[in-house]
Amino acid sequence: MPEKARVGVLISGRGSNMAALIYASRADDCPYEIVLVAANDPAAPGLALAAAEGIPTFAQPHQGLKRAEFDALIEAELARHGVEYVALAGYMRLLSGGFVARWQGRCLNIHPSLLPAHKGLDVHEAVLAAGETVTGCTVHLVTPELDGGPILGQTRVAVLPGDTPDSLATRVHYAEHQLYPRVLAGLVRAETGPEALLGRIRNLALALPEAEEKLSHGMNGFFVRGGKFFAYFIRDQHGDGITALLVKADGLEEQAQLIENDSNLYYRPAYFGPSGWIGIRLDTGDNDWSHIDDWLTRSWRASAPKRLAMLPF
Ligand code: GAR
Repeated sequence: MPEKARVGVLISGRGSNMAALIYASRADDCPYEIVLVAANDPAAPGLALAAAEGIPTFAQPHQGLKRAEFDALIEAELARHGVEYVALAGYMRLLSGGFVARWQGRCLNIHPSLLPAHKGLDVHEAVLAAGETVTGCTVHLVTPELDGGPILGQTRVAVLPGDTPDSLATRVHYAEHQLYPRVLAGLVRAETGPEALLGRIRNLALALPEAEEKLSHGMNGFFVRGGKFFAYFIRDQHGDGITALLVKADGLEEQAQLIENDSNLYYRPAYFGPSGWIGIRLDTGDNDWSHIDDWLTRSWRASAPKRLAMLPF
């Protein structure tokens, strides 16, 4: 089972969206786990719930601290827990520019309207005052512009005659609790799933001289023009759920040695194993891309025609 992406949730209050993220993460096929819940208010009710669910919590009142100082304390805690994505869930505090820049693309927020309509506070009052018949919720990436980052997902919610801000908020919450886990999971999958991994392998492999790609036995294979295949990208090939890179080892002896030294990373691939190929797992959640690049280069060199293999790089 690949490791799950590590998510930190920032809250200021009730934390019902935090709870939705936590409970969704308990599904086996959910690609993220919540590893920290932090609040800028030690009395935020969501903290007690997170603690009861066995999730580490951190509370730091923001009073008396400059914005960047406060954010630095939060960031230190995120780093301590190895957080890779930050989900703002009712976090009613503006983030410093530095924080936003450092987490760009990996920090999400949920907002109770169909953005770009009704940014800011008192959203349901504004929706009713504007006479809207439809509202909803939005999950977006956080950028320096308040409630203004790229939209990742939205759910529409009908406004009923006689709705009050409270009744509307309740229904929008139902929608939020469905939307947030789905969008977060989608973002994580898009960045860590097989398609994203293939994209990175392709970039590295095709950067090698005269390298080309073609489908071979249902796999994405990379070969040197006029030479042989030097790498294959494997994805769930035998229904085993494994995503891996196959490259040429020096021979069966090195193959056995590699597997003995690190059996979490290396394995003997079916069909290719007997001819000295080595499988490198790409789904451990902890890829060392320069190491993978070295392997691709080495395997390329072993497969390229002499005139190319001699190239100094
Ligand atoms: C949610 O409705 C969320 O969209 C909103 O605060 C509520 C928090 O509820 N966030 C914002 O308005 C941010 N601009 P919760 O604590 O129960 O998740």
